[in-house]
Amino acid sequence: MTDSKILYGGDYNPEQWPRPVWEEDYAAFDKASIDTLTLNVFSWATLQPDEDTYDFTQLDAIVARAVEGGRGVVLATSTGALPPWLAHRHPEVERTDFQGRRHVYGQRHNACPSSPVYRRLSAELAGRIAERYAGTPGLVAWHVGNEYGGFDGGCWCDLCAAGFRDWLRVRYGTLERLNEAWNATFWSHTFSDWAQIVPPNMLSEHWRGPDHTAFQGITLDYRRFMSDAMLANFRDEKARIREHDATTPVTTNFMGMFRPIDYHRWAGDLDFASWDNYPPGQREHVRMALAHDVMRGIKAGDPFWVMEQTPTITASRDVNPVKRPGVLRLWSWQAVAHGADAVLYFQMRQSRGACERYHGAVLDHAGRTDTRAFREVAALGSELAGLGDAVVAARTPARVALLFDWDSWWAAEMTDGFNRHARYVDTVLSYYRALWQAGAQVDVVPTTADLTRYDVVLAPMLHVLKGDVAQRLAAVTERGGSVLASYWSGRADENANAHLMDAPGPLAPLFGVRVEETDSAEPGVTNPVTLTDGSGEAVSAAELVFEVLVPEGADVVGTYGTEFYAGTPAVTRHRPAGSEGGEAWYVGTGLDDAGAAWVVRRLLDRHGLVGPYADVPDVELAVRAKDGVRFAFVLSHATEPVEVAAHASGVDLLTGRAVRAGETLRLAPTDVVLLREDLPGEAA
Ligand code: GLA
Ligand code: ZN
Repeated sequence: MTDSKILYGGDYNPEQWPRPVWEEDYAAFDKASIDTLTLNVFSWATLQPDEDTYDFTQLDAIVARAVEGGRGVVLATSTGALPPWLAHRHPEVERTDFQGRRHVYGQRHNACPSSPVYRRLSAELAGRIAERYAGTPGLVAWHVGNEYGGFDGGCWCDLCAAGFRDWLRVRYGTLERLNEAWNATFWSHTFSDWAQIVPPNMLSEHWRGPDHTAFQGITLDYRRFMSDAMLANFRDEKARIREHDATTPVTTNFMGMFRPIDYHRWAGDLDFASWDNYPPGQREHVRMALAHDVMRGIKAGDPFWVMEQTPTITASRDVNPVKRPGVLRLWSWQAVAHGADAVLYFQMRQSRGACERYHGAVLDHAGRTDTRAFREVAALGSELAGLGDAVVAARTPARVALLFDWDSWWAAEMTDGFNRHARYVDTVLSYYRALWQAGAQVDVVPTTADLTRYDVVLAPMLHVLKGDVAQRLAAVTERGGSVLASYWSGRADENANAHLMDAPGPLAPLFGVRVEETDSAEPGVTNPVTLTDGSGEAVSAAELVFEVLVPEGADVVGTYGTEFYAGTPAVTRHRPAGSEGGEAWYVGTGLDDAGAAWVVRRLLDRHGLVGPYADVPDVELAVRAKDGVRFAFVLSHATEPVEVAAHASGVDLLTGRAVRAGETLRLAPTDVVLLREDLPGEAA
């Protein structure tokens, strides 16, 4: 069943209610075309009531009932929350927080990733579950742990300190190299014994919080180590699953743009990427699109899953508004449009008690199927069923890449100096928003990705410049492509030490510019930047960061309007010698949306990549393709009805209606058109 349709369903925790209720649940699942259930996410205490006893009676019944009607099962390993006996018997499995406090039993995502006891028992549990349920009919995937790093992104205990030292020994070999990497002569930090190294937290290098550290190099390495320590937990369990099941894909649920874990470091270990989509507000369609693209970029464009989303409300925020009519459908199709092959919910029926008892669900506490929420869930279920396998496994035909880099995110946001209001994701999002509105298909990729297939590559706030990125960006321009870097790019090496040269460091020759000074201002203080290139002019209210640029070969495209640097360059464009007409744009300031759009449109225009709905605000075009057939999703996030001229002929797979290129499409708010475009020469 896995490749026959977009999977639909979600987290189901029937252990919380009596058996007769299960039958009500399954009747409702049938009504809503629910075909996939994620089981066993948090049941460790039941599966293993003490260190020597395992008991699968309850899970046997739950799995048996799920597969009875031919449903797909995503089977979790239950290691995302410790059982009380384990923490009581082995207190060191509890994590130590950033303040340095060893926790006692409570919550979830509560284990120290370096604890040998946790590693042994979590792997053992995963192995026993795999042994018992491998070969279950309809088993679609294994779901290891849950939302790694979900508490506050890690542990800072003595076991982790020891693990950190081991990790550092592997990375640096000698203390001399480590001291060099950490620039340890600063503030007399030269380490003369590995034992002197402690985790960077509020008891050591930090003040105010995770973003304020005296030694960026130490904190950067600790984040890499912690990301790897949790990855080791995932690997422990996956290895045990593989002893019993060689083929069923193994994943874990990520959290989109989640800072504590470098998901790119996990890519090779996941069989597919999946994530939990809980947007922080009601008008987050661009941020969600970016997050989907980040997730798709983890596995080089392979389809991913939405492992969780809420049908109605979340429970964890101070204010939890319901999804407005049509929004669940719109956002679900948006996920599919960006490459999701599964759309799953948290949760199928509302929890009976504890902190998520009012979290939205397909079924409420009464199990009603005559609610608006259920009707919308069921309607979407039948639409997805009707679509069949049309877009399953289809890929995004992107000619634009945006580099996303956890090292740069970490390093830029823990940097003293400049401006703490300039944030990594905000900066990336401002360029992504311009690409999104222009209707460009974008791959959001790690800095190590193959760039040879792209016409346009953007590197916003690529603060840490490592490896051969500068050469590979230059190669894009050498074959006529366009690249863009923004302020703070190229400044630091992989240890977060400054490059001993002009900023933007090794990027300077490609961009033909150097940064002489970096000015900053409070949010809301703007400097009007006039953008002009002969074909048009605009003024952008730039804010936060104002680099004073000295062109060294680049043309001036934008100039500051005020301050002592009024009239000097804020945006430049370089046509490097020897390139096939390629261009390298450098943006030294925080352009507003209009300014970012002005710049980005020019890069896209050079390659014919501005989409057909670029001038219709909040109308999204996302494309997937397979076997030469293009599936164009036109999604209206607008709050008012809009009319557009159809960009192609084809069939709307959601209505069966034939569409002719140029005809008027009337899109009400939340409307979705899924156009299977005719092949060239095919009649409409
Ligand atoms: C996360 C978790 C779920 C649940 C939801 C609630 O995504 O994985 O167990 O807590 O949040 O929104
Ligand atoms: Zn620890």
